Amino acid sequence: MLKKVFLFKGILISFFLVGLIVFSSCQKAEKKKILIGFSQSTMIDPWRINMLEQMKDAVKEHEGEIDFVFTDGQNDNIKQISDVEDLFSRGIDLLIISPREAEPLTSVIERVFKAGIPVITLDRNITSDSYTCFIGASNFRIGEGAGRLMTSLLEKGGQVIEIEGILGATPTIDRSDGFHSVIDSIPGIQVIGKQPADYLREPALKIMEDFLQSQPRIDGVYAHNDEMALGALTALKAEDREGVVVIGIDGQKEAFESIMAGKLSATFIYPNGSAQAIEIALKILKGEKVPKNIELKSQMVNKSNVHLFYKPDSYF
Ligand code: FRU
Repeated sequence: MLKKVFLFKGILISFFLVGLIVFSSCQKAEKKKILIGFSQSTMIDPWRINMLEQMKDAVKEHEGEIDFVFTDGQNDNIKQISDVEDLFSRGIDLLIISPREAEPLTSVIERVFKAGIPVITLDRNITSDSYTCFIGASNFRIGEGAGRLMTSLLEKGGQVIEIEGILGATPTIDRSDGFHSVIDSIPGIQVIGKQPADYLREPALKIMEDFLQSQPRIDGVYAHNDEMALGALTALKAEDREGVVVIGIDGQKEAFESIMAGKLSATFIYPNGSAQAIEIALKILKGEKVPKNIELKSQMVNKSNVHLFYKPDSYF
C-alpha cells in the first residue's frame, strides 16, 4: 500500500516537473520571437504590393521566430515619418524600411538607429550612413544599361524623353545619373525633355500626351519604371506614334507581355529584396556581422529572352 502511495506521488511529481519544463521552454520560445517592423512607402503600385506579399511569405517560413508588423506610408513622407515613430514606440527589434524620399526620412531613421534598433534600408536609401544594411540592385548600373541599350537601338541617333520617378528617391537619382553618364556623350542622341511622374502610370500617360503635342519628333522614351513605360505606350498608341523605343525598369508581368507583343522594347528586372531582408534581419538579430551594402542582380529583358522570365501564372 505504502509502495503504491509513493509510486503515485512519484508519478505526480514527474508530471509536475515535465509540465514545468514544457511551460518554461514555451515561455522561452515566446520570449525569443522577434518583432520586425516594415515601413513601406506606398502600396499604390504593383511592384510594392508584390514586395509586401513576398516579405510576408518569407516571414511565414520563420513563423515561430518572427512577429511582423507593417505600415503603409501612402506615398506621403509625413505619413511615413509618423509610421516609423509608431513602429519604434511599439517596441520593434528591427526596422526594415523603403523610404519614399531620402532627405525627409533620414532624420527619423537616424533616431531609430541611434537608439540601438538595427535598420535595413530596402531598394531606396537615405542620405546618411545611419543604417545597418542596404539591400537593393544598383540603379546607377541599370541606368547605364538603359543608356547603352538606347544608344544601340537608336543607331542613327534620335530624340529621347525621360520620364522620372519620385525626384527625391535615391533610385530616381541613380537611374538618371547612370543613363546620362552614357547618353550625354553620344553626339546623335539628345534628351529633349524630362519630367517626373512619381513611378505612376496615369501621370506618365498625361506627361507623354503633353510631350507628344509639343514635340513633333520623339524616337525614344526612357521611363524609370514599367508602370510609367506602360503609361507612355498608351499615349503613343492613342496618337498613332508607335515604333518609338520605350525602355522600362522592374520586370513586371504586364511589361513582359508588352515586350512579347512587340510594344515595349525592354525592361530591367529590379528585384525587391524582401526575402533577403528577412534573412539579413535574422542574422543581425543573432549577432552575426552583415555587409553594409548588399547588391542584388538585375537583368535586361527584351524580346530575345523574355520567354525565360515570363510566368503566365504569376500576378506580378
Ligand atoms: C524605385 C521603385 C521602382 C518601383 C517603384 C515602386 O524605388 O522600386 O522600381 O517601380 O519604386 O514604388
